[in-house]
Amino acid sequence: MSKALDGVRILDFTHVQSGPTCTQLLAWFGADVIKVERAGAGDITREQLRDIPDVDSLYFTMLNHNKRSVTIDTKNPEGKQVLEALIQKCDVLVENFAPGALDRMGFTWERIQELNPRMIVASVKGFGPGPYEDCKVYENVAQCAGGAASTTGFDDGPPVVTGAQIGDSGTGLHLALGIVTALYQRMQTGRGQRVLAAMQDGVLNLCRVKLRDQQRLERTGTMKEYPQYPNGMFGEAVPRAGNASGGGQPGWILKCKGWETDPNAYIYFITQAPVWAKICNVIGREEWATDPAYATPAARLPHLKDIFAEIERWTTTKTKFEAMQILNKYDIPCGPILSMKEIAEEPSLRKTGTIVEVDHPTRGKYLTVGNPIKLSDSPTEVKRSPLLGEHTDEVMAELGYSPEQISALRTAGAI
Ligand code: COA
Repeated sequence: MSKALDGVRILDFTHVQSGPTCTQLLAWFGADVIKVERAGAGDITREQLRDIPDVDSLYFTMLNHNKRSVTIDTKNPEGKQVLEALIQKCDVLVENFAPGALDRMGFTWERIQELNPRMIVASVKGFGPGPYEDCKVYENVAQCAGGAASTTGFDDGPPVVTGAQIGDSGTGLHLALGIVTALYQRMQTGRGQRVLAAMQDGVLNLCRVKLRDQQRLERTGTMKEYPQYPNGMFGEAVPRAGNASGGGQPGWILKCKGWETDPNAYIYFITQAPVWAKICNVIGREEWATDPAYATPAARLPHLKDIFAEIERWTTTKTKFEAMQILNKYDIPCGPILSMKEIAEEPSLRKTGTIVEVDHPTRGKYLTVGNPIKLSDSPTEVKRSPLLGEHTDEVMAELGYSPEQISALRTAGAI
């Protein structure tokens, strides 16, 4: 079956996490992604957090599926010529070097345009234009600068970063959308363009509801769905909301049976207004359904803490899965706190290809997260990541280099 991005060729000049996430998605949709790496070393993640000596790390293998790898020294004059040939042949160049690195290599936007006016140049940077534009940025810096850390955690504790890689993988996802949009526009204009996704902007986009809350706070001085509400302890900025749900339906994380020894024996419980009477029945507090102090969402807000404590008295008598089963029968929104172990073993995720087992020539079998976006006419087949320089000869031949030229370039250290 054909793939959505068949025929699109990507010069993948990415490393670490943010850029590789983006190009991996494009590869899953069928683009030919040619990853250009530094000879001898490659993407630094190949050797980071290794669990098997001298074998590409899971960090690398899980971010670089379905790609080809070529090694080129892009600071060597002959290596530069190879890169130029690639630029002429590709549709998109994706990079996430430190600010200015591509220019220092001699590949300014103007130069790339000269070589290929249809080329789309897509970049991840830590910050957009402004005081921090020259900074190098990693995941947690972006989470802090984009508003996630100041709004995550509990009120009486420090800011907290989240396990979800919203700065890196989140920005890679934003960049991928920018690239396919630019490809679409190129169909009308015939021209390439620059695509920039700054990590601070990507995180802030995902924290949109918190900027909403900042303005609500400034206007009204309070936000009733926040745990701070009844005590009125609001400052000037959006506070950390613990596990309160972001929307208008109050929620909290509650202990389940076994919580004393299992750190993940918890459930997220939402007291959705339309099912309030059912919640009262399930937990054995039928009178709350009609009691004016509990019957309406507004009446419940000032004593949500006590309400959740009462619901927790019920959830601690059930495992998180038992609680799920019972609550789902009544359409009460809830979710188990799943550990990575439970997720890895979940059969339904294997069935949909969201968790995939991949075989690798030096690593053997490992689990990865497959494509979370399912297209009915462009199914994803997850293929292992390339070894360093595995496709150098193949790609060079496609660029028109003869075996003799390839061998001379190798001797010169260009590839
Ligand atoms: N041949 C020769 N040189 C190469 C090369 C190749 N194939 N590929 C890369 N290089 C060189 C670059 O030219 C650059 O050299 P320069 O500093 O002389 O200009 C250097 O390698 C790349 O360096 P840099 O991007 O600065 O790497 P770093 O390890 O110092 O910094 C980051 C890493 C992630 C902090 C930085 O790249 C960055 O801020 N990127 C943008 C934000 C981002 O994506 N962050 C998230 C990462 S998950």
